[in-house]
Amino acid sequence: MNRLLLVNGPNINMLGKREKEIYGEFTLNDLEQDVSDLVQEYGFKLDCFQSNHEGELIDRLHQASGKYAGIIFNPAAYTHTSIALRDAIAAIETPVIEVHISNVHNRETFRRESMLAPVCHGQIVGLGMKGYRLAALAFLDNK
Ligand code: DQA
Repeated sequence: MNRLLLVNGPNINMLGKREKEIYGEFTLNDLEQDVSDLVQEYGFKLDCFQSNHEGELIDRLHQASGKYAGIIFNPAAYTHTSIALRDAIAAIETPVIEVHISNVHNRETFRRESMLAPVCHGQIVGLGMKGYRLAALAFLDNK
């Protein structure tokens, strides 16, 4: 199963335009290309998905069950609110690593809580685009 899935949640399509002082200058396309290049070096393929809709993210996670070595997931604001996404992660057989570009612990207090972290394989925060690469490496080194 030489495939990884990269899933990004709401407003991540606005990277490069949105709050650049927090999220940096890179775009979603830059990010997807960067992780894709990395996984290819390991003989893996990366599928990418972004949605601003909770139900679409849940559907994509369900479809991914058992089909990928791992899922790299930035649930964005749904991190802090979505019991439905937490249940979706708990329901599937594929391990998920939660990634946040910014350090959610040095921002508003509501960002400190993740509904999803308890059912994720791991969590990486505050390392920008590198966080996605590190999540990919965690799965690639496991092969
Ligand atoms: C984010 C952090 C979330 O709190 C926020 O709602 C986002 C992006 C991050 O990658 O730092 O949209 O997930």
